[in-house]
Amino acid sequence: MKRTYILLAVVIAAGVFLSQQISSANGPTKAVTFSKDVAPIFNAKCAECHRPGEGAPFSTLTYKDVRPWARSIREKVTQKTMPPWHADPHFGTWANDRRLTSAEIETVKEWVEQGAKEGDPRDMPPMPKFTEGWTIGKPDIVIPMPQEFTLEASGPDEYQYFEVDPGFKEDVYVQSAEARPDNRKIVHHIIAFIRPPVANATAKPRPNLSKEELAALRAKMEKESPVYREGFLARTKQEAPVCDDGCNDPKGGRLGRADRGAEMENGQLLAGYAPGMNQAIWEPGTVKKIPAGSKIMFQMHYSKAAGSVQKDRSSIGLIYAKTEPKKLVHTTGISNNAFLIPAGADNHKVTACWTAPDDIQIINFMPHMHLRGKAVEYKAIYPDGKTEILLNVPSYDFSWQTAYYLKEQKELPKGTRIMVTGYFDNSTRNKFNPDPAKIVRYGEPTYDEMMIGWMDYTAKNESPKAVARKE
Ligand code: HEC
Repeated sequence: MKRTYILLAVVIAAGVFLSQQISSANGPTKAVTFSKDVAPIFNAKCAECHRPGEGAPFSTLTYKDVRPWARSIREKVTQKTMPPWHADPHFGTWANDRRLTSAEIETVKEWVEQGAKEGDPRDMPPMPKFTEGWTIGKPDIVIPMPQEFTLEASGPDEYQYFEVDPGFKEDVYVQSAEARPDNRKIVHHIIAFIRPPVANATAKPRPNLSKEELAALRAKMEKESPVYREGFLARTKQEAPVCDDGCNDPKGGRLGRADRGAEMENGQLLAGYAPGMNQAIWEPGTVKKIPAGSKIMFQMHYSKAAGSVQKDRSSIGLIYAKTEPKKLVHTTGISNNAFLIPAGADNHKVTACWTAPDDIQIINFMPHMHLRGKAVEYKAIYPDGKTEILLNVPSYDFSWQTAYYLKEQKELPKGTRIMVTGYFDNSTRNKFNPDPAKIVRYGEPTYDEMMIGWMDYTAKNESPKAVARKE
């Protein structure tokens, strides 16, 4: 009896398989429509960015808005440039994996080839729900920049810093945070940092210096510093010491204080905005702490692409933890800022390492390089010497600052080293290369480079109420 069923199932399956083969060989028998087949895919995989008020050039929510883009959609979807996703599928499983399945790609392709028909509007799935303006939902508090900023029409990109006192009298636990650009024509990226208050006891007394002495001191410090400023932008001096292999260097490939990671220069990272970046939404109970009295620092990267005088007053929105905080989110930037990329080099390797101070659980990775960034990899080197690739991005693309959220948090024992390896293409073959004739060092402008492996993690044996440690 049982066997008959199985046999029957096999026969039916073979029949279905055969009829599919025949139908695809003889052209489509099934009409693919927007309302019935395509809209559910677009709602799930495109509308996050392709909806009114977001960064993408058109909305995928209605047939009317989508129809003029059909050809371009077929091209981008079959070439897999849309949705943007750059992680090598062989390593790690990602909660926010945006890729379409091959069946979904086939459906979109078939739909366009059949004339991109609307079908019956009654087949449309319910409109997905988005909160107007905020991806994380309605914030409990919105903290804008302290004042509106006016950006001149021409000149190089600008980094501007704005500090705000949100007036937090006690420690605040944040469940999710979003940085929201006000003027998308000029806001290239936003990074909001937490700057905890400096205890008075540790503040150095200021020596009483004359104007001349102060000027001389400043000149001396500027001369000795490996970094200089070009307008608003910090750049590493061409003649500063060089270290490409930060993992095999006592200073870890860091100019200045070796014990300071990228996050320590400006405070703890709270939220960011850049094309393709996800918002910081942690699991309930896993929270970011803002100590009482902290200031919030906005680092704004403005681009002059608009070509006219523009104004901006961007904001961050926070949703407070609604349940007892269980774990604190630490954000660390594993970075090398002492590398030197020779002119024309097409595969220049740079490393940076970090050692887990405790048993940790990793939440996400966000590699950050600039226009010469070619590939990047995060690798764990366990205390017993075994290694494991945690994330591999074989073709890094500066246009997409994706944070890769692990489907299941990755547990690493105390003492595990995380090695971030970046490769840069400073040759003429890199079509994004601003100038292959230049020797390139670390710096804030996009025509300099960066090598930062950002990462959010929680530490196992830590009470959220305890004073936040320094990573
Ligand atoms: C993470 C955000 C994001 C997601 C998800 C996304 N897109 Fe895009 N898309 C963009 C942005 C931003 C642009 C404009 C910049 C560019 O072309 O690279 C764009 C451009 C495009 C273009 C090119 C438009 C032109 O100028 O020709 C097409 C077509 C497209 N997207 C289709 C899709 C489809 C279809 C999906 C879902 C299957 C999707 N995108 C998912 C952000 C996104």
